[in-house]
Amino acid sequence: MADPVDGPPPARKPADVFTARLVSGATFPAPADLPLLVAAEHAGLNPPSSCRNGTCRTCIAQLTQGQVRYRIQWPGLSAEEKAEGYILPCVAYPVGDVVLRLGVTF
Ligand code: FES
Repeated sequence: MADPVDGPPPARKPADVFTARLVSGATFPAPADLPLLVAAEHAGLNPPSSCRNGTCRTCIAQLTQGQVRYRIQWPGLSAEEKAEGYILPCVAYPVGDVVLRLGVTF
């Protein structure tokens, strides 16, 4: 068992904050440590969502510029959908500025 350590917790480096731009032209801050869906909600947007864990596809969006990373191994998208830029913003984190279309319907 480890001994308790006195003193303040280690300083946490603030996350980078990128810009997410919707194809409509609206923008919102997109922190690197926040799923794009949550960042959009913090900006007052109301994109569709349900499971919020990358399985239901309700939140599907299309990334037209930029890149995202996922904290889960395989979000519920086919290889073809990924190649076409579709993302699941409930589990997608920006790695730079992005341009996207939220609320995609097929
Ligand atoms: S809300 Fe279910 S996959 Fe994003």
